[in-house]
This record gives sequence, structure tokens and C-alpha cells, in this order.
Amino acid sequence: MSTPKKLHAIPTPGSAIQGHLEKEYAGMSNEETIEYLKREVLRLRDSSSHYYATSLSCNKSFADGYGHIPTHGSDAVHCKERLLQLHELDNRPRLNTSSYVNVVFEQEEVDIAIQALSINLADGSVYPASIDLHDKVVDSIAKLWNCPENEQGKDFEHFAGAGTVGSTEACLLSLLAQKFRWRKWYAERHGLSEADVIGVVPNIVIPTHYQACWEKAFRYFDIKPKFLHPEFHKFRINPEDMRDLVDEKTIMVIGILGNHYNGTYDPVWKMDQILSEINDEKGLQVGLHVDAASGGFIAPFQENVPAWDFRLKNVLSISSSGHKFGESCCGTGWVVFRHRQNLSEHIEVEVTYLGGISYSMTLNFSRPATGVYVQAYKFLRLGMRGYQRKVENQLETTMRFRNKMRAMKWTKGEPLFEICDPDQEPGLPVFAARINPELEMDFNDVKLQHAISEFHWYVSAYHLSFEDFSKGGITGPLCKDEVSSASMFRVVFKSNLTQVLADDLFHRISDIMNHIKDIELAAAKPEIHAKQRPILATMTSVREQMAIRSKELRAKNKKNSYPFSNQHKAC
Ligand SMILES: Cc1ncc(COP(=O)(O)O)c(C=O)c1O
Repeated sequence: MSTPKKLHAIPTPGSAIQGHLEKEYAGMSNEETIEYLKREVLRLRDSSSHYYATSLSCNKSFADGYGHIPTHGSDAVHCKERLLQLHELDNRPRLNTSSYVNVVFEQEEVDIAIQALSINLADGSVYPASIDLHDKVVDSIAKLWNCPENEQGKDFEHFAGAGTVGSTEACLLSLLAQKFRWRKWYAERHGLSEADVIGVVPNIVIPTHYQACWEKAFRYFDIKPKFLHPEFHKFRINPEDMRDLVDEKTIMVIGILGNHYNGTYDPVWKMDQILSEINDEKGLQVGLHVDAASGGFIAPFQENVPAWDFRLKNVLSISSSGHKFGESCCGTGWVVFRHRQNLSEHIEVEVTYLGGISYSMTLNFSRPATGVYVQAYKFLRLGMRGYQRKVENQLETTMRFRNKMRAMKWTKGEPLFEICDPDQEPGLPVFAARINPELEMDFNDVKLQHAISEFHWYVSAYHLSFEDFSKGGITGPLCKDEVSSASMFRVVFKSNLTQVLADDLFHRISDIMNHIKDIELAAAKPEIHAKQRPILATMTSVREQMAIRSKELRAKNKKNSYPFSNQHKAC
């Protein structure tokens, strides 16, 4: 009998492999080493197994409790499957009518995004062409928003602006630039030193229907907000209210071009005019920032919008989310400044590369170039005409849906919904309404949201409250003329919410409301009503009760003095 052949030589003491082995098993007892090796064998066997036969399919790394990194790595295909399964637990993004963020991409766009994933926008030495593309996309947006070329300064080849992660970063950057501008002015006005002026707390004037990103601005940057309250009907603010709010500590006034609640455009054109008057009367130099998170890529393609952008002389900066109606991918935002001098220069950091210079003004240096590339792809793919046609489609689908909802009646022919979106006026492609409060129904907007979700659609309902950070963050009414417990709901008509899908959503809502109406009519006949009651009760939703409960628990454990932030954060 021949002796079995040794496949591998036993490592000699002191060899490199011996060193590795000693490190790998250091501190382990023999039993532990055996256990460890058993697992290694299992892992090796897993890598050629069907996913459902692997140990990874029941590994708890990202399942229970706090996440942790597993001891051993796994096969690439299985890791992908595991993560795809987790994503299955998300909602269906195309049926989510609450979010403004684009979720549909062509394959070529995905290819471009993957390519851009490994490009670091902070590294001009390695990626000068990508940085140039970034600057050209900023230029394109600056032109779309009518930024004056002659105010840029002769030494610059591009407009002042930056690609950001989203509107939030863009808004924060605009606030910082304008804050430093204000500080300089205020110090000069009062003969203060740099150290003295830092102690002065400035304010911004902003409508209460701001998105939660501004809450970050108030809290992170120590800014006192002063609020303009809209009326519920169409969410209109009265720009005359600015006269009492703007003072010498005001950094800027914010106009929202398309608030996320109902899509109304703040009358920036009127705000600009009144701001000029206030500046003249009070000897101030307050500028406007337009938060065009959603409207920045809608308004330029609508015909009936008065000048809202850099055509207005007080508009110093504009921000927008490329990932909303700009049709780019999540993680794309833009800020453009009217000029550099005494504005964007305050937040610019000069970066030299390969003999060139670029200016970084983002909160982060390293970042992937995905947003820039996908935005550029969309500009090339759609062109101005493509955007225009897309916007027309969205507005038309919104109007069709709105008209059908408007036609819905209650038991005695009363309108079932009170519509509170911009309707015929310029605004975002958004439908917003509430169940007619005059009907005094037991069934409210939140219950409607839950009933609709049974059909896979997500339509968000929310209360008309906001956190008043001018009073330490207490919850107060969002609108001048409505209590904070009142509610409403909205449907955002992103490009993927086509008429076919919108018709389905309408039918679901109409079926639900007809069902509720039947129950109401049957109420006159107590024996039928008693049978129907449980159905109505399920629509009060366990989810709603869970949300209330978790809010209570969080309130109990809360350490800092801030209450929950803006009730409605969806973006
Ligand atoms: C008016 C407004 N500003 C800012 C934001 C924040 O945008 P982002 O999510 O891109 O940071 C949103 C999001 O919906 C918004 O509607």
C-alpha cells in the first residue's frame, strides 16, 4: 500500500504562511479552532450552494436588534440576494405618491450612474473632466434660472454654484453664504469687531410650510426663524406680512417655489418687490433665497409663471433637488449664487489640481459623481423640449385626477373633498385636498391613507401643524386660519405617475369612499349598520395606533428639549 500523497507541505516554523496561521488562530483553544474551521468549511460549501440552502440566508447580521459585521465574508451572489431581499421590505416606490424623488431610470442611465460611483468629485487631479462636467451642469442650471453672466466676475469661466447631495445641503450652503454676507454688513453698520458680531443671533424670514431641512438650519446654525403663515386655502402667504418681520438682524427671506404640502409657489415676484421697499425704508440689504427644491425644474417649463428667479434683483441664491423633477437620481442637488463677490466667496475653498484651480463650497469634500453624471444624462436625453413635454404631461394628469376628485359627492350631493392645491394657478404637479370637514365624517384623511395603502398605493396624509422654533419648538398651527389638528392629504404627480396609474388610484379612492358612503347610508338601518361597523373599524388602522404609540415612547425617552420635528418630512 502506497502512503497517501501530501497535497501541501506542512508550513515550516518561521515561514510567512506559518505566521498567518498563528495570527488566524491566536488565542483559540483547540475546541474553538475546530469550531472555527467547521464554520469555514460551511462557508466554503455555501459559496457553491443555492442561496436558500446557505447559512447566510439565516444569518442575523442585519436582521435582529443592533446590526453587526459578520465574522466571515460570503459569496458575492449571495450577498446581493440577501440585500435584494431586504429591499423587498420597502414599499413600492412607483406607487409612492408622497415622495418627490425620481425612481425611474433607463438602463443607459444606470450604466452611467455605476460608472460615476467610483469618481470622487473632490479629486480634480484624477478627475478633471468630471469636475469640468460638474461646472458645466451648474452653468446650464444657472442659465435655466436666468443668472446674470455679467455679475460673475471676469476671472471666472463658470457660474458660482455647486452640486450637492440634495436641496438640504444646497439650502444650508445658501444660508451660510448669506449669513457671512449679513455679518460683514452688520459689523460695519455697528462698528463691531469680528468677535463681537459672532455673538449676535440673526434671523431668517420663512413661511411655516418650510420643509424640515430648514429646521436643520435653525438648529445647526443658531438662527432664529420668523414665520409667515399661509391661509389654508391654496396655502397662500401674504408678502405684506414681511414688513413686520424683516429687521436689521435678518439674513435673508426665503420664498418656497412649490411647498411640499400642496405645491403652491410662494409669490416670490411680490416678495421681491416688497423686500426692495423694506430695504429702502429701513436702510437694509436683505436678499432673497428661493428654495425651488421641486419647482426649479418645473417653473422654467411653465408658461404662466411670473419671474421668480435671478430676473428678480433681490434673489441672491436658488437651490433645487436634481433628484426630484430634475429627473436625476437620489443624491442630486444644486445651488446657484447670483455672484461670487461678498456671497459665494464666503464659503468657497480653493482647490488646486494638475495646474488648475477649482472652488469647493460643499459641506463634504469626497463624494461620488453619480448625481452630476445622471443629471447631465437627463439634460442630454430630454433637452429643453423634453422637459417641457414631460411637465405638460404631469400637469395634465394632475388636472384630470383633480377634476375627477372634485366631481365626487357625498350622500346629499355635497362635495366630498375640499381641494387646496394651486389648481389653475401656477404650481407643482400636485393634488392636495382634505375630506370636506363640513361633512363631519368619522372617516378622516389619515384613515383614507391607510385604506388606500391596502391597495399598495402610498398617499400621505398629515396634520396642519409645525414646530415653532421661534418659540423653542412647540407645536403650533401651520396656517393662519386652521387648527393644528386639522389634516389633509396629497398626491405628487411624478413623471412615472402616468394617466393609466392615476386612473387606478382614483378608482381605489372612489371605491373606498363609496364603501364609506354605503355605510353612512346604511346607518339609518341599525341592523345593517351593526354588521358594517367592524369593516370601518379596521380602517382606523393598527399602523396609525402604532405610530401614535411609538411617538409616545419616544417622547418619554427624549433627552433634549426639542419636540418632534415637523410632522411632515416627506420629500
Ligand atoms: C421645499 C423643499 N425644500 C427642501 C427640501 C429638501 O430636499 P432634499 O430632500 O433634496 O434635501 C424639500 C424636500 O421635499 C422641499 O420640498
